[in-house]
Amino acid sequence: MFIAGMAMIAVSTTSCSQKVDAEPTLKEAFKDDFLMGIAINADQASGRDSIGNAIAAKHFNSIVAENVMKCEKIHPQENEYFWDDADAFVKFGEENGMFIIGHCLVWHSQCAPWFLVNENGEEVDAETLKQRMRDHIYTIVGRYKGRVKGWDVVNEAIMEDGSYRDSGFYRILGEEFIPLAFQYAHEADPDAELYYNDYSMNEPAKRDAIIKMVNGMKQRGLRVDGIGMQGHMGIDYPDLGDFEKSIVAFADSTGCNVMITEWDMSSLPTVTQSANVSDTVAARESLNPYVDGLPADAAKAWNDRMAQVMDMFVKHSDKISRVTVWGMSDGDSWRNDWPVVGRTDYPLLFDRNHEMKPFLGKYLENVNKQ
Ligand code: XIL
Repeated sequence: MFIAGMAMIAVSTTSCSQKVDAEPTLKEAFKDDFLMGIAINADQASGRDSIGNAIAAKHFNSIVAENVMKCEKIHPQENEYFWDDADAFVKFGEENGMFIIGHCLVWHSQCAPWFLVNENGEEVDAETLKQRMRDHIYTIVGRYKGRVKGWDVVNEAIMEDGSYRDSGFYRILGEEFIPLAFQYAHEADPDAELYYNDYSMNEPAKRDAIIKMVNGMKQRGLRVDGIGMQGHMGIDYPDLGDFEKSIVAFADSTGCNVMITEWDMSSLPTVTQSANVSDTVAARESLNPYVDGLPADAAKAWNDRMAQVMDMFVKHSDKISRVTVWGMSDGDSWRNDWPVVGRTDYPLLFDRNHEMKPFLGKYLENVNKQ
């Protein structure tokens, strides 16, 4: 197995004697292809998780906030923002020269409970919601203006069948909540890149609806730089041909950059192909077969499929500007609790001992030869 924590190798040159870290890194391996991004949590950003912090700094040149910029965390009450964790996240990215992504400005999930309702718990009117969205976006994007380089402006607004999600934002403002969010974000930081982000992007009806929605915004002169394909995968889904069709269609039909924004691949039995956070399935033993470790055949199947997916990303690196992994090590992953609570999953690039997964070896081999 390829070891992430391999010792630093001391290299002497004839002209001078210096220590060079000869261990290749992921960001070097893919430097001609796309940014290598990682979602980090508050412990990794602050350094409380010192190993995770060091791996992020070493292997990745882009970070996204896994949770600390979500509405319920950063804006828990109408007149109260909580900045400590988001500030630490941005500082970490700046100290390491990373391309920093904010996630996410408008999303039905992890939305602060006050955001869509009045004091009686009834949904607010359109003008009130517009004003709340404007304040929220201006305040957060404004605080990190020029520092956070790209924002997931709207997350998960379209369903698999291409219809709009029946979220509070949609019920109150209709389809217009999406262009409004992009408008406010652009006003708050005209230089920031702005993205639409979603899951199940391999679904043809969803693909078409998103292309239509993004092109509609562009025709109105709104800035949309990227389409984020989350990439929460399983050992038997999505169909990679369909996923590839979406990469090509998003780039060719909208002119946007494509970003793989939340890549992970469960090694466990599939119970749902969607990444709808509310779809949870009660834990069952048969759904959690690898509590004591991933057997060799299952690990091989996972590594083979991950290499296939990575090869597909590299093949389309003219269209894909960033590949971001959703979590540091297997133990950190949200997939341990979703869609089934309390499973032991193996979905990320680093295992529970922070060792790099074998499929990456072939990409790293070439780095020092370049
Ligand atoms: C997940 C986080 O990883 C978890 O820690 C949290 O409890 C729930 O949200 N789609 C998204 C991400 O856009 O923000 C979600 O992140 C995973 C699905």
